[in-house]
Amino acid sequence: MIDETALTVLLTADQLRDRVRELAAEINTSYPTGRDPHLVTVLKGGFIFLADLVRALDRPVTIDFVSVASYGTGTRSSGVVTLATDFEIDITDRDVLIVEDIVDTGQTLSWLLDTFRARHPRSLRTVSLLDKRSRRTAEVDIEHVGFTIEDRFVVGYGLDYAEQFRHLPYVAVLDQTPQHPSERHTDSLRR
Ligand code: IMP
Repeated sequence: MIDETALTVLLTADQLRDRVRELAAEINTSYPTGRDPHLVTVLKGGFIFLADLVRALDRPVTIDFVSVASYGTGTRSSGVVTLATDFEIDITDRDVLIVEDIVDTGQTLSWLLDTFRARHPRSLRTVSLLDKRSRRTAEVDIEHVGFTIEDRFVVGYGLDYAEQFRHLPYVAVLDQTPQHPSERHTDSLRR
Protein backbone atom coordinates (compact mmCIF):
# COMPACT_ATOMS: atom_id res chain seq x y z
CA MET A 1 0.00 0.00 0.00
CA ILE A 2 1.40 3.41 -1.01
CA ASP A 3 -0.04 6.42 0.79
CA GLU A 4 -1.03 9.73 -0.78
CA THR A 5 2.09 11.52 0.51
CA ALA A 6 3.97 9.80 -2.33
CA LEU A 7 1.95 11.88 -4.80
CA THR A 8 2.79 15.20 -6.46
CA VAL A 9 -0.13 16.86 -8.22
CA LEU A 10 0.53 17.29 -11.95
CA LEU A 11 -2.93 18.30 -13.21
CA THR A 12 -5.50 19.76 -10.87
CA ALA A 13 -9.22 18.99 -10.98
CA ASP A 14 -9.80 22.48 -12.44
CA GLN A 15 -7.23 21.98 -15.21
CA LEU A 16 -8.77 18.62 -16.07
CA ARG A 17 -12.29 20.07 -16.16
CA ASP A 18 -11.25 22.96 -18.41
CA ARG A 19 -9.30 20.76 -20.83
CA VAL A 20 -12.10 18.16 -21.02
CA ARG A 21 -14.49 20.97 -22.00
CA GLU A 22 -12.06 22.12 -24.72
CA LEU A 23 -11.68 18.57 -26.01
CA ALA A 24 -15.46 18.16 -26.08
CA ALA A 25 -15.78 21.36 -28.14
CA GLU A 26 -13.10 20.10 -30.56
CA ILE A 27 -14.82 16.72 -30.89
CA ASN A 28 -18.22 18.35 -31.39
CA THR A 29 -17.01 20.36 -34.36
CA SER A 30 -15.30 17.34 -35.94
CA TYR A 31 -18.56 15.36 -36.26
CA PRO A 32 -21.25 16.90 -38.47
CA THR A 33 -24.90 16.94 -37.43
CA GLY A 34 -26.41 13.50 -37.90
CA ARG A 35 -23.05 11.78 -37.41
CA ASP A 36 -23.10 11.41 -33.63
CA PRO A 37 -20.01 9.55 -32.43
CA HIS A 38 -19.98 6.11 -30.84
CA LEU A 39 -17.50 6.26 -27.95
CA VAL A 40 -15.58 3.11 -27.03
CA THR A 41 -13.53 3.18 -23.86
CA VAL A 42 -10.85 0.78 -22.78
CA LEU A 43 -11.44 -0.35 -19.21
CA LYS A 44 -10.71 0.44 -16.55
CA GLY A 45 -8.61 3.60 -16.64
CA GLY A 46 -10.81 5.61 -19.02
CA PHE A 47 -14.02 5.46 -17.02
CA ILE A 48 -13.80 8.88 -15.34
CA PHE A 49 -12.58 10.66 -18.48
CA LEU A 50 -15.44 9.11 -20.47
CA ALA A 51 -18.01 10.13 -17.85
CA ASP A 52 -16.83 13.75 -17.87
CA LEU A 53 -16.41 13.85 -21.66
CA VAL A 54 -19.92 12.60 -22.50
CA ARG A 55 -21.43 15.21 -20.18
CA ALA A 56 -19.40 17.96 -21.84
CA LEU A 57 -20.37 16.86 -25.38
CA ASP A 58 -23.43 18.78 -26.38
CA ARG A 59 -25.06 15.99 -28.43
CA PRO A 60 -26.37 12.45 -28.12
CA VAL A 61 -23.72 9.74 -28.15
CA THR A 62 -23.64 5.99 -27.66
CA ILE A 63 -21.00 4.28 -25.54
CA ASP A 64 -19.41 0.87 -25.21
CA PHE A 65 -16.50 -0.67 -23.32
CA VAL A 66 -13.80 -3.17 -24.15
CA SER A 67 -11.07 -4.58 -21.99
CA VAL A 68 -7.76 -5.83 -23.25
CA ALA A 69 -5.09 -8.19 -21.99
CA SER A 70 -1.50 -7.49 -22.95
CA TYR A 71 1.32 -9.93 -22.74
CA GLY A 72 5.03 -9.49 -22.22
CA THR A 73 8.19 -11.40 -21.50
CA GLY A 74 8.45 -10.01 -17.98
CA THR A 75 10.84 -7.22 -18.85
CA ARG A 76 9.34 -5.78 -22.01
CA SER A 77 5.92 -5.50 -23.56
CA SER A 78 5.69 -7.78 -26.57
CA GLY A 79 2.90 -5.67 -28.02
CA VAL A 80 0.74 -8.79 -28.08
CA VAL A 81 -2.75 -7.77 -27.06
CA THR A 82 -6.09 -9.57 -27.05
CA LEU A 83 -9.65 -8.43 -26.39
CA ALA A 84 -10.59 -9.75 -22.95
CA THR A 85 -14.08 -8.26 -23.21
CA ASP A 86 -15.48 -7.67 -26.68
CA PHE A 87 -17.86 -4.91 -27.88
CA GLU A 88 -21.50 -5.22 -27.04
CA ILE A 89 -22.51 -2.94 -29.89
CA ASP A 90 -21.46 -3.73 -33.47
CA ILE A 91 -19.25 -0.88 -34.78
CA THR A 92 -19.82 -1.53 -38.49
CA ASP A 93 -20.68 1.78 -40.23
CA ARG A 94 -20.47 3.76 -37.00
CA ASP A 95 -18.40 6.89 -36.35
CA VAL A 96 -16.20 5.37 -33.66
CA LEU A 97 -14.20 7.45 -31.23
CA ILE A 98 -11.76 5.50 -29.05
CA VAL A 99 -11.52 7.12 -25.61
CA GLU A 100 -8.18 6.41 -23.93
CA ASP A 101 -6.88 7.54 -20.56
CA ILE A 102 -3.21 7.48 -21.55
CA VAL A 103 -1.12 6.47 -24.56
CA ASP A 104 2.35 5.39 -23.57
CA THR A 105 4.31 3.10 -25.94
CA GLY A 106 1.30 3.16 -28.27
CA GLN A 107 1.32 -0.65 -28.58
CA THR A 108 -2.18 -1.05 -27.15
CA LEU A 109 -3.71 1.72 -29.25
CA SER A 110 -1.96 0.51 -32.40
CA TRP A 111 -3.46 -2.94 -31.88
CA LEU A 112 -6.89 -1.50 -31.06
CA LEU A 113 -6.90 0.63 -34.21
CA ASP A 114 -6.10 -2.41 -36.37
CA THR A 115 -8.74 -4.51 -34.60
CA PHE A 116 -11.41 -1.81 -34.87
CA ARG A 117 -10.60 -1.13 -38.54
CA ALA A 118 -11.12 -4.81 -39.34
CA ARG A 119 -14.75 -4.36 -38.23
CA HIS A 120 -15.40 -1.65 -40.81
CA PRO A 121 -16.46 1.43 -38.86
CA ARG A 122 -17.57 4.41 -40.96
CA SER A 123 -14.82 6.48 -39.35
CA LEU A 124 -12.29 5.84 -36.58
CA ARG A 125 -10.66 8.48 -34.39
CA THR A 126 -9.00 8.60 -31.00
CA VAL A 127 -9.07 10.94 -28.03
CA SER A 128 -6.57 10.43 -25.24
CA LEU A 129 -6.53 12.51 -22.09
CA LEU A 130 -2.78 12.00 -21.63
CA ASP A 131 0.03 11.36 -24.08
CA LYS A 132 3.51 10.18 -23.03
CA ARG A 133 4.90 10.80 -26.49
CA SER A 134 8.56 10.27 -25.58
CA ARG A 135 7.88 6.59 -24.79
CA ARG A 136 6.35 5.75 -28.17
CA THR A 137 7.48 2.54 -29.90
CA ALA A 138 4.43 2.20 -32.20
CA GLU A 139 3.32 4.89 -34.66
CA VAL A 140 -0.23 5.97 -33.83
CA ASP A 141 -2.34 8.94 -34.88
CA ILE A 142 -4.28 10.53 -32.02
CA GLU A 143 -6.68 13.19 -33.27
CA HIS A 144 -7.42 14.74 -29.86
CA VAL A 145 -4.90 14.91 -27.00
CA GLY A 146 -5.64 16.47 -23.61
CA PHE A 147 -2.14 16.89 -22.21
CA THR A 148 1.28 15.75 -23.38
CA ILE A 149 3.22 14.70 -20.30
CA GLU A 150 6.78 13.70 -19.43
CA ASP A 151 7.81 10.11 -18.90
CA ARG A 152 6.61 9.87 -15.30
CA PHE A 153 4.24 7.33 -13.79
CA VAL A 154 0.93 9.06 -13.09
CA VAL A 155 -2.18 8.06 -11.16
CA GLY A 156 -5.61 9.47 -10.39
CA TYR A 157 -8.66 10.49 -12.47
CA GLY A 158 -9.18 6.81 -13.35
CA LEU A 159 -5.51 5.81 -13.60
CA ASP A 160 -4.17 3.36 -11.07
CA TYR A 161 -1.09 1.82 -9.63
CA ALA A 162 -1.98 -1.73 -8.53
CA GLU A 163 -5.67 -0.67 -8.40
CA GLN A 164 -4.94 2.26 -6.05
CA PHE A 165 -5.62 5.96 -6.67
CA ARG A 166 -8.27 5.74 -9.41
CA HIS A 167 -10.68 7.80 -7.29
CA LEU A 168 -8.49 10.92 -7.05
CA PRO A 169 -10.05 13.95 -8.78
CA TYR A 170 -6.59 15.09 -9.99
CA VAL A 171 -3.65 13.49 -11.84
CA ALA A 172 -0.50 13.06 -9.78
CA VAL A 173 3.01 11.73 -10.27
CA LEU A 174 3.77 8.77 -8.07
CA ASP A 175 7.10 9.62 -6.49
CA GLN A 176 8.03 6.07 -5.55
CA THR A 177 8.14 5.32 -9.25
CA PRO A 178 6.94 1.77 -9.70
CA GLN A 179 8.15 -0.51 -12.40
CA HIS A 180 6.60 0.65 -15.63
CA PRO A 181 3.37 -1.22 -16.50
CA SER A 182 4.75 -2.43 -19.80
CA GLU A 183 7.64 -3.93 -17.86
CA ARG A 184 5.69 -5.51 -15.03
CA HIS A 185 2.96 -7.43 -16.76
CA THR A 186 3.31 -11.01 -17.81
CA ASP A 187 0.20 -12.61 -19.22
CA SER A 188 -1.94 -10.32 -17.17
CA LEU A 189 -5.06 -8.32 -17.70
CA ARG A 190 -4.28 -4.67 -18.30
CA ARG A 191 -5.66 -2.12 -15.87
P1 IMP B 1 0.78 1.46 -24.02
O1 IMP B 1 2.21 1.31 -23.58
O2 IMP B 1 0.56 2.72 -24.82
O3 IMP B 1 0.29 0.22 -24.73
O4 IMP B 1 -0.09 1.63 -22.71
C1 IMP B 1 -0.43 0.56 -21.91
C2 IMP B 1 -1.22 0.96 -20.71
O5 IMP B 1 -0.32 1.11 -19.63
C3 IMP B 1 -2.01 2.27 -20.67
O6 IMP B 1 -3.22 2.26 -21.35
C4 IMP B 1 -2.24 2.39 -19.17
O7 IMP B 1 -3.26 1.53 -18.75
C5 IMP B 1 -0.93 1.90 -18.65
N1 IMP B 1 -0.07 3.05 -18.32
C6 IMP B 1 0.93 3.58 -19.04
N2 IMP B 1 1.49 4.62 -18.39
C7 IMP B 1 0.80 4.73 -17.23
C8 IMP B 1 0.89 5.65 -16.12
O8 IMP B 1 1.73 6.56 -16.06
N3 IMP B 1 0.00 5.44 -15.13
C9 IMP B 1 -0.94 4.47 -15.13
N4 IMP B 1 -1.06 3.60 -16.14
C10 IMP B 1 -0.18 3.74 -17.18
